[in-house]
Amino acid sequence: MIVLGIETSCDETGVALYDSEAGLRAHALFSQVEIHAEYGGVVPEIASRDHVRKLLPLINQCLENAGLSRADIDAVAYTAGPGLIGALLVGTATGRSIALGLGKPAMAVHHMEGHLLAPMLEADPPEVPFVALLVSGGHTMLVEVRAIGEYRILGETLDDAAGEAFDKTAKLLGLGYPGGPALAKLAERGDAERFAFPLPMTNRPGLDFSFSGLKTHTRNLWLNGEQDDTTQADIAAGFQKAVVDTLVIKCRRAMQQTRAQQLVIAGGVGANLALRQTLQQAGKKYGWKVSYPRLEFCTDNGAMIAFAGCQRLLAGQSTDTGLQAFARWSLDQLPPIETHRS
Ligand code: KG4
Ligand code: ZN
Repeated sequence: MIVLGIETSCDETGVALYDSEAGLRAHALFSQVEIHAEYGGVVPEIASRDHVRKLLPLINQCLENAGLSRADIDAVAYTAGPGLIGALLVGTATGRSIALGLGKPAMAVHHMEGHLLAPMLEADPPEVPFVALLVSGGHTMLVEVRAIGEYRILGETLDDAAGEAFDKTAKLLGLGYPGGPALAKLAERGDAERFAFPLPMTNRPGLDFSFSGLKTHTRNLWLNGEQDDTTQADIAAGFQKAVVDTLVIKCRRAMQQTRAQQLVIAGGVGANLALRQTLQQAGKKYGWKVSYPRLEFCTDNGAMIAFAGCQRLLAGQSTDTGLQAFARWSLDQLPPIETHRS
């Protein structure tokens, strides 16, 4: 089965063709980062308009790169939520129209299910059951995955998402938008031990997160001290270490609680090398297998949507509810999947 995947939930237009037999056939991405940079954050209306401009050319490019034609598409999977509603509606309307025109099924995909399954696009895919740490710009959660489609949220953030905390801290330090990758780069040459940082919510039980206090602590350090290059790098390094250490402590708790042997990291912050390295070391120490998507599939992309949609389509599911998209949509409301990969 060849599935066209469409991702337009935020500021990246992602398209892919996933073949259930041969794997990923093609993928293409256009990032709107430069368009939004001058505003210091994503402007929803501008995002929607740019998805309209880029989506069809990217679909054509993917078909050409894969040596396929529209008639070869067996089904269309599109992100229906959660995300920016106008942006989601572009992918939903386009995806459903293509499916309707071809007389093929369409599948509404949950963006976070896409992130969660992204490591399965890699050569040595994780096996269920596993615990997933989903860390993106909009979400931070730990999910127990008993089977593909069977998700139990173990904990989530009470305020800012990890990516959001990276972005806001980067903005505070004058690193522009989106700041996550820039802050990570600056942290490489900083001394993480120079300033003390709190590890939020680690000294009490539970698997929820909170990053807003850490953000405030960082703001106070920066605004009340010397604002030189060394201090900026040292604060970046200390902040990053505090986020990474907090995430690792909670992952360890989740692994103990569920007795899982496999940990999966996904979402934009999963591209953070310090986080990847630290979790890899923890995996070695505690005997877990740790899996990640390749870096480009940590952040938003069409491949993860094509893959997640394909799993549901193979199990006979499809979406017949018309042009519906959801700004909010909980992962644990998804129906289970009976059959797995063919
Ligand atoms: O998953 P994603 O592309 O979009 C959402 O679904 O939100 O995640 C984007 C987030 C942004 O907050 C970005 O700053 C963060 O992921 N991010 C990083 C890194 N690369 C992306 N944060 C820290 N270190 C990175 N290397
Ligand atoms: Zn995302």
